[in-house]
Amino acid sequence: MKAITVFPGKPDSAHVADVPRPRIEEVAGGRGVLVKVLKVGLDGTDKEISAGEYGTAPVGSDYLVIGHESFGVVEEVGERVSELVRGEFVVAMVRHPGEGLYDSLGLPDMTTSETYHEHGISLLHGFLTEYYVDAPEQLIKIPPGLKKVAVLLEPTSVVEKGIQQAFEIQRRLKIWRPQRAAVLGAGPIGLLATAILRLRGMEVVTFALERPPYLRSELVEAVGARYQSTQERPLSAVAAEDGRFELIFEASGFSPLAFEAMRALSKNDVLVLSSVTGGHREIRVPADVINLEFVLGNKVMVGTVNANREAFESGVRDLAMAEAQYPGWLERLVTRRVEGLDKCPQEVRLLDMGPGAIKTCVDVAQLP
Ligand code: BGC
Ligand code: ZN
Repeated sequence: MKAITVFPGKPDSAHVADVPRPRIEEVAGGRGVLVKVLKVGLDGTDKEISAGEYGTAPVGSDYLVIGHESFGVVEEVGERVSELVRGEFVVAMVRHPGEGLYDSLGLPDMTTSETYHEHGISLLHGFLTEYYVDAPEQLIKIPPGLKKVAVLLEPTSVVEKGIQQAFEIQRRLKIWRPQRAAVLGAGPIGLLATAILRLRGMEVVTFALERPPYLRSELVEAVGARYQSTQERPLSAVAAEDGRFELIFEASGFSPLAFEAMRALSKNDVLVLSSVTGGHREIRVPADVINLEFVLGNKVMVGTVNANREAFESGVRDLAMAEAQYPGWLERLVTRRVEGLDKCPQEVRLLDMGPGAIKTCVDVAQLP
């Protein structure tokens, strides 16, 4: 069967390859589920892997099938699978448990091990292919009504986890009921965070560099949030003049903004960092002031990566809520559709991360 593979570490090696079709017997104990891939979303991680900057092949393989944002339909199940039947839609979780306490507790997203197993990224083949096999523990059932948008579940799960972490941490305050949130960045993660925080009833200001109006600012406003260009007013000014943000969700991909956000935080507030910044940028920071304000203000900052089953499941509920509250909004996030696998190598290489683009989605096979 066809797959998009790379030789990790080798720049521009993404190509269409012929790989063996997986068999359900590859999962032990009759627990295999064979899934036909329908849609795959692409993101910056895929681009970095294709550029040779990131990614690890499975042990014993010299190549890695890329793609981690999936949506598919169950084709066949092993005799000991009762959770799923043929014809049901599923999204696969990205990370598999490795070694460590949190992995064994169903929280591989919180692993303390340096080695992590992520489909299409690290040590496990991904979903830019025709079929894959996984265990039901790794699969999230999707209601048919979400079949057009469920390819967005993986990035949604990353947002869900970040917000859940913030709420979990703020239980320290006993009565935390945040009213105002800031989202930094208006890419897929920033826009999904904007919608989900709006669904939680919060007033949201979403910051990005570009001046409005353009597609991203329109999408922010379409869910009742406010768009703010940082060229017109920086985060620090808005926080000082218009009121504090009890929750700041950083998803801009620009690490200096994380430090600006630390300063914009008020007493007791929480900052969630989600940008995977692979570079080596250095900046000067007012270290004493930031430290002092954190100490005297009981402030919190937390990093968040990947997502566990709970986050995927709340993601399903929020995708359904978003479809009901803001009909058609999720589909507008897909700004580029690619037909079939053949064009994927150049699509991944040239992936447009600019302000006019949001999400590229590959239609691997027709929706049933
Ligand atoms: C994926 C996450 C993953 C992270 C780090 C992101 O693009 O969405 O699931 O944990 O990359 O590899
Ligand atoms: Zn991703």
